[in-house]
Amino acid sequence: MGKHKAIKTFHISTFGCQMNLADSSTLAASLTARGYRRVADAGDADLIVFNTCSVREKAEERVFGRLGEISRFKKNKPHVRVAVVGCMAQRLGEKLIEKAPQVDYVLGTDRVFELPDVVGGNEGVSRVMTAFGHENMDAIEAEKETPYAGFVTISRGCDNYCTYCIVPYVRGKERVHAADHIVGCVRKMADEGVVEVTLLGQNVNSYRDGGVDFPDLLRRVVDKTDIPRLRYMTSHPKDLSPKLIDIMAKECRIMPHVHLPLQSGSDRVLEKMGRGYTIEHYRQIIRELRRRLDYVSITTDLMVGFPTETDDDYEQTLQAVGEIQFDAAFMFRYSVRPGTVAEAYPDDVPERVKIQRLRRLIELQKSIGFERNQREVGRVCYSLVEGTSRRSEDIMRARTEGNKTVLVRADGIETGAVVPLRITAADAFTLHGERVESQ
Ligand code: SAH
Ligand code: SF4
Ligand code: F3S
Repeated sequence: MGKHKAIKTFHISTFGCQMNLADSSTLAASLTARGYRRVADAGDADLIVFNTCSVREKAEERVFGRLGEISRFKKNKPHVRVAVVGCMAQRLGEKLIEKAPQVDYVLGTDRVFELPDVVGGNEGVSRVMTAFGHENMDAIEAEKETPYAGFVTISRGCDNYCTYCIVPYVRGKERVHAADHIVGCVRKMADEGVVEVTLLGQNVNSYRDGGVDFPDLLRRVVDKTDIPRLRYMTSHPKDLSPKLIDIMAKECRIMPHVHLPLQSGSDRVLEKMGRGYTIEHYRQIIRELRRRLDYVSITTDLMVGFPTETDDDYEQTLQAVGEIQFDAAFMFRYSVRPGTVAEAYPDDVPERVKIQRLRRLIELQKSIGFERNQREVGRVCYSLVEGTSRRSEDIMRARTEGNKTVLVRADGIETGAVVPLRITAADAFTLHGERVESQ
């Protein structure tokens, strides 16, 4: 096995958010179009790609852990090439190669799609590319994730600069894909048999292409494509408009789920985070969503231990969570990110306190999730079947309109089908259902 063995196969590991998953699908399609073959096991790949996340320190540590394993593996297979792309590549650039010399290519968030050129050894391309302003938004074609579901990125980057967040630095300023381009991507997926598309952006509600705002975009996608199920994320509370709630109420093809990160229940902390809304404004949105949309499912992100968070601030978060009753929540401990505004604040909540606060919050949300899920029992949910469950081949895993996981006996139910399931039982994180006839 010589050093010059050709690169024929590739493997991509994706970390972080759905925007990275979407980018990985696009990247995989372009590598495949160049004749490289995707393999399921990194051990079989000549090119190993890590599409990375910088949002918390832990996310970066996990990638360094994996790179450590690769370094041993590369000793036996010297022709293997390793590429780190995405947010961490953007943040660290050359430093990444200094810290992990086994890495061959580092491509930042605007340069990810140049990987086929770099690997192909095209003249003039370098191993480390992180300059912004190089992407061609029109050339980025969304690709389906699975034969039945896909992500379509509507905007890249973020202009919000929440004080704790690295995303605006690693993803750059907000750029939108043209509405027609987005409609075209969704239509292509629908024509290929995809039944559910999720539109993605760090703040979908700030979308604007000329006169087309986000609700207008949803309207266009619904009217101009045959996609049966449409979702979107992430919503920002400061920009979620009544017009959006209106179109969701009118269009049953837009799934009744809103992911609306709250972060904290304390106005003082929200202000220091630079979130641009108060808890009362947030409550109003929730009231309106629940008034207008039957069985809307509302999920959120919460953070504990932000600089200066007192016991009292934290209690306000618990109170807000208890009152609002989220269907589910992602909950995090604050992690200092280099270069952010909050880096200059004292990281003054001891780690031990952060851990305790997080644990209690998770417990509370678990009992609320359980209660919320009981409300689904007896209902019929049209659910998209995503595959077999982790535990058994005889149980299928499906997703309800409200984005909840439901388990059902396999009995000839096929992956990719949308089936009516009567919910028979529920626990904190999952529903259980049985197949019924269409109604
Ligand atoms: N654009 C989305 C969130 C993107 S990041 C929004 O505005 O809500 C996803 C989540 O990670 C955030 O909602 C936040 O809860 C968490 N997060 C971001 N930066 C973090 C940090 N420095 N430490 C801990 N959690 C963080
Ligand atoms: Fe980060 Fe705030 Fe932008 Fe979300 S809106 S990506 S939390 S800066
Ligand atoms: Fe992480 Fe980048 Fe997404 S930092 S959360 S992968 S935009």
